[in-house]
Amino acid sequence: MCGIVGYIGPRDATPIILNGLRRLEYRGYDSAGIAVLQDGEIQVRRDAGKLSRLASLVDGDPVHGNLGIGHTRWATHGEPNARNAHPHIGMTGDVVVVHNGIVENFLELRDELLAEGAVFKSETDSEVIVHLVERYLGTGSEIGLVEAARLALSHLRGAHAIVLFSSLEPDKIVAARIGNAGGVVIGLGEGEMYLASDMPAILEHTRKMAFLESRQMVVLTRQGFSVQTLDGAPVQPEVHSIAWDPVAAEKGEYRHFMQKEIHEQVRSLTETLAGRVDFEGGRINLPGLNITPELARRIKKIIITACGTASHAGMVGKVLIENIARLPVEVDIASEFRYRDPLVGPDTAVLVVSQSGETADTLAAMEEARRKGAVLWSIVNVIGSQAMRISDGAISMQTGPEIGVASTKAYTAPLVDLYMLAILLGDLRGTLSEARRMELIADLRKLPRLAGAALEREPEVIKVAQALVNTQHCLYLGRGINMPTAYEGALKLKEISYIHAEGYPAGEMKHGPIALIDRSMPVIVIAPRDPWYEKMFSQVQQAKARGGLVVPLATDGDQLIPAFADHILWVPETPWLLSPVITVIPLQLLAYHIAALRGLDVDQPRNLAKSVTVE
Ligand code: AGP
Repeated sequence: MCGIVGYIGPRDATPIILNGLRRLEYRGYDSAGIAVLQDGEIQVRRDAGKLSRLASLVDGDPVHGNLGIGHTRWATHGEPNARNAHPHIGMTGDVVVVHNGIVENFLELRDELLAEGAVFKSETDSEVIVHLVERYLGTGSEIGLVEAARLALSHLRGAHAIVLFSSLEPDKIVAARIGNAGGVVIGLGEGEMYLASDMPAILEHTRKMAFLESRQMVVLTRQGFSVQTLDGAPVQPEVHSIAWDPVAAEKGEYRHFMQKEIHEQVRSLTETLAGRVDFEGGRINLPGLNITPELARRIKKIIITACGTASHAGMVGKVLIENIARLPVEVDIASEFRYRDPLVGPDTAVLVVSQSGETADTLAAMEEARRKGAVLWSIVNVIGSQAMRISDGAISMQTGPEIGVASTKAYTAPLVDLYMLAILLGDLRGTLSEARRMELIADLRKLPRLAGAALEREPEVIKVAQALVNTQHCLYLGRGINMPTAYEGALKLKEISYIHAEGYPAGEMKHGPIALIDRSMPVIVIAPRDPWYEKMFSQVQQAKARGGLVVPLATDGDQLIPAFADHILWVPETPWLLSPVITVIPLQLLAYHIAALRGLDVDQPRNLAKSVTVE
């Protein structure tokens, strides 16, 4: 989950690394550090807390050199203090390492190294790596850095992304990826090279990038890079030209990335449709999915598996695919999927949804599905990510980089991808009439305008946020296609405002949770004009009758609901199968403004990281 940056070239590495880390801080912000080769010696600066503390440290005690690595940490082993911050330098002072992942056999390795005389300076599992490299690189040893790194890595259990360099070989940086602990991106410059755990860190310098697969290592010099497997076989990775705009990774006029990303949804929805929807011919085009009519007809079941917000998108996807394509869909939390011995075979398509494409649980679910012979599809935002690479077919989200830890635009884009997939499957399987297909496709055209209309209501949402800012709890109720909207609204609120929030299927209220309702419990009832409207209207009345503070989300022009509402969130009239794309927008804005009013760090909420690359 940590962020990693590396640079080798003619320029000063320090500002390049600090800037890169700034763009990766969403990956972890427990501590940060850099190591730079200055006049032949490794200089380390590191501190607990956010990157700003490291930046002040470097201001007061500068370090300059043409080669360096940096790290932002999301702590697993050892407190988030300065001593446990990366980089970790060895006892000789000749080798330095940053690491993302968990050394599962850390205790065993530490005992072995202690017996050999190693002295540990931190409580981290990562420190064993630097001692292992030093063990092989020792003075008088014939073994060079690359071989020492390979030998060291052969001892590690678990999943890792590792970057290291040595003052003994000051012309190179070595990095490796083992398993699914997060990506290693190689950035190609002119006479300089970059490394990062995520593309936004280096996007301002280069758009030419290559990606390490599991059990591969890369050696970076100023002139270029070479990749080999951990067994020493040379590999020629493909170099991609990344279309992402570096400006998209900047906050611009907005206070937080989350706010900017909420507002980018009009554009990301427009781009999601571009080139994929033939409005005149009434057809959907998803070439990256590699789906043939034979395959579409062979599939008997789809299992959508994902984590967090992405799993809520999957729940909406179930309603869409079952309704439009008449194909059974199960939704499974990725962290549960592989431990249940799921019933999956060659007639099952396992579809993952993931912003990062690097979530460890999602990747493990994919591996399990692959082992069982399923067809693997993915809807992923980060180009070149592991999920995208190991899929048989993929839909690339067209949202651009998402930096805020709370996912927003990478929630609505896959909803539209799933809608398009449902139409495509219905078309290929012959379960969708032409008239309905034309109608469903025509509805897509309205989407960017409707999202824009929902965003224009922001000033009204701010007033609701002001009214709810001091609440301790909040209940979100939804039903049918908007039941996942309730889950998603509650997740947004809890993760950035630390207010206890529950999303609940409205029909389940009477089976227990209704007991919670009193004046101190705001109840957000998602009641747009969809097939469940009457049932949701009755929820609004019930919540009012029980004395709750009722905040319905209603469609513009609704005449019935206002009489029972303490506050209202309005959305424009939307075709019901697309309504989750629009109903979530006021809920994203509400969570954002409540957290901002509480003065919280919206983009970097406590204990969280953007890509969850540990189990
Ligand atoms: C969303 O706001 C969360 N921070 C989180 O639930 C996220 O959606 C989840 O970790 C899955 O991430 P992915 O989409 O990168 O796989």
